[in-house]
Amino acid sequence: MKKLRIGIIGAGGIAQGRHIPAFLSLSNICEITALSDVHIERAKEVAGKYTIPGVFEDYRDLLPKVDAVCICTPNKFHAEISIAALKAGVHVLCEKPMALNAEECQAMIAASEKAGKVLAIAYHYRFMKEAQAAKKAMNEVGKPLVARVHALRRRKVPGWGVFTNRSLQGGGSLIDFGCHLLDLALWLMGNPKEIAVSGTTYHAVSKIPNQVNQWGTFDHETFDVDDHVTAYMKFENGASMLFESSWAANIKDDYANVSISGVDGGLSVFPFELYTTKNGMLVNSQAAWIPGEESPDVPQAKNFIDACLGLADLVVNPEQALQVSRIIDQIYESGGNHL
Ligand SMILES: NC(=O)c1ccc[n+]([C@@H]2O[C@H](COP(=O)([O-])OP(=O)(O)OC[C@H]3O[C@@H](n4cnc5c(N)ncnc54)[C@H](O)[C@@H]3O)[C@@H](O)[C@H]2O)c1
Repeated sequence: MKKLRIGIIGAGGIAQGRHIPAFLSLSNICEITALSDVHIERAKEVAGKYTIPGVFEDYRDLLPKVDAVCICTPNKFHAEISIAALKAGVHVLCEKPMALNAEECQAMIAASEKAGKVLAIAYHYRFMKEAQAAKKAMNEVGKPLVARVHALRRRKVPGWGVFTNRSLQGGGSLIDFGCHLLDLALWLMGNPKEIAVSGTTYHAVSKIPNQVNQWGTFDHETFDVDDHVTAYMKFENGASMLFESSWAANIKDDYANVSISGVDGGLSVFPFELYTTKNGMLVNSQAAWIPGEESPDVPQAKNFIDACLGLADLVVNPEQALQVSRIIDQIYESGGNHL
């Protein structure tokens, strides 16, 4: 079988830390044939390090050389590059968030449908073993009633890249970190349609000069994104969600989890635990994990390749990623000015 030719667009942290190693480990079914970055010296250096033959400054020159691309650029370029790739007949795995807003996501889906090519979004939390276990266990939870979503870091504003630049990223803690846990919760709930979304956004901590920060330094003056967000959502099936994300919370420890209470039982994803009743008793269950693949990176890459080859359905359907972006838009719209 011919190997799928993959192109990497954007050769920064996530490309080197996740996608390039994942695709390289699947060398029986794919090969990374090209890489592009507007920072051409970085492109050359990374291509040399991983022995990638084609190096391009402009992603448009890469498209004719590949069957699929993995888009690892700042959020602002996700839609433009995805649409150009799809129009060129190239499958797309795009980093999260899908795009800056829901309108851009819809244009990406339209391009994918027109081209008949795969459009996958890298919500990799879904491929974690705890998330996969939780998805299977939802039949014991029954109809979901309340989801609690936390994506909280203590004083960890990313001090590198462009994460604190609204025009390039579209937002801060919510669109960057909260989106993962929001996506995971919606997926576990069966992606019910949202009917009401209300949020509040903050950046008071990060606007103070010389803040204590565990992940490098950033300029408090140019910081123009949220560092803490709360939201409440109602869904048309009667379920509701309590949501909180932060890069800079004044809390004891980082805390990232989704917990869901349903009619028959409940669960927590991190750590994975199931709360049910049996024989007139309350029962708490934990998984005894079978040793194997621990990282979600390779399963995510494999699912994308299999979908491109027509061998599997996508785990992350682009319509579901669009819902995440639609809810993020509504939280930002209702959040008003940052406090
Ligand atoms: N899934 C996750 O958990 C996760 C983690 C980190 C980052 N990300 C996402 O990955 C994306 C990139 O993040 P990063 O941390 O790798 O950032 P980064 O700043 O380390 O790398 C981005 C790279 O893209 C390049 N670039 C910018 N515009 C380009 C363009 N038009 N064409 C080609 N290259 C371009 C930059 O020169 C840079 O090398 C973001 O969308 C981010 O949200 C996801």
